[in-house]
Amino acid sequence: MSNKPPTAIIGGSGVKSIIKGDEKTIGTPYGPSPPITHSLVAGRSVYFLPRHGEHHQYPPHMVNYRANIWALRQLGVERIIATNAVGGINQELTPGDIVIPVDIIDMTKSRKGTFYDKAPVTHIDVSQPYCPTLRRLLIDTARMKKVNVHENIAMAATEGPRYETPAEIRMLRTVGCGIVGMTGAPEAFLARELQLCYASISFVSNMAAGLQRQLSAREVEEKGRETSNILNSVIVEAVANIPERHNDCPCSNALVQAQLVSNAAEVEQLAR
Ligand code: HPA
Repeated sequence: MSNKPPTAIIGGSGVKSIIKGDEKTIGTPYGPSPPITHSLVAGRSVYFLPRHGEHHQYPPHMVNYRANIWALRQLGVERIIATNAVGGINQELTPGDIVIPVDIIDMTKSRKGTFYDKAPVTHIDVSQPYCPTLRRLLIDTARMKKVNVHENIAMAATEGPRYETPAEIRMLRTVGCGIVGMTGAPEAFLARELQLCYASISFVSNMAAGLQRQLSAREVEEKGRETSNILNSVIVEAVANIPERHNDCPCSNALVQAQLVSNAAEVEQLAR
């Protein structure tokens, strides 16, 4: 077993486990995680967590995001690469393109979005919601593989499970979103609350509502299958090249400035 800290891959719609290995479910204060697969990739310990459950049984608004992120932290994971199927709002995008989002607008409504419901009152900074080091690595890896990758795009995370209306998409474009998916939030924020590095690799499965005649879940699934080889190869290569140190990213010490000084003792306990 590698002594480097493990990395996790969260597989979204259409993304089957990239790795084969032992599976285990982790109990958390929020309920059990789905079975998580463990293996070595280029000598590094890697976990794969299927976000929607092993049989894709949890729709986006019912995913237990807190259990998933907690379980990964419990396994010692320090970095997470999450995959998301998204609709393209930006008309420069084409289905099959890959986006490493730089920012996110949370439009979800019903989800448990924090680990900090009680004292210590905690306000994490999400000025850079995705780990800049992991993003750079994913972008450079995709470019090296001649993949059509877009990097200056913000994601809208919608509640689902229905797709959006054309008017909602026009609104999201107006506020600066280039892609839309149902699973970006609160996952990214929960990872930051536990001081884990997190970046998303999104694949455009369709153009968003109003930009193509109609939307279909089958189309999203099919595009996932079509894109999976390239997506997997970027992820595997990126995992193999993850730097050992957390250089200058806002993730691994996110709690330091997030809590009031009067809570300092509790902070110490929560921080790794
Ligand atoms: N909207 C929301 N989520 C999605 C879409 C979309 O168009 N495509 C894939 N996931």
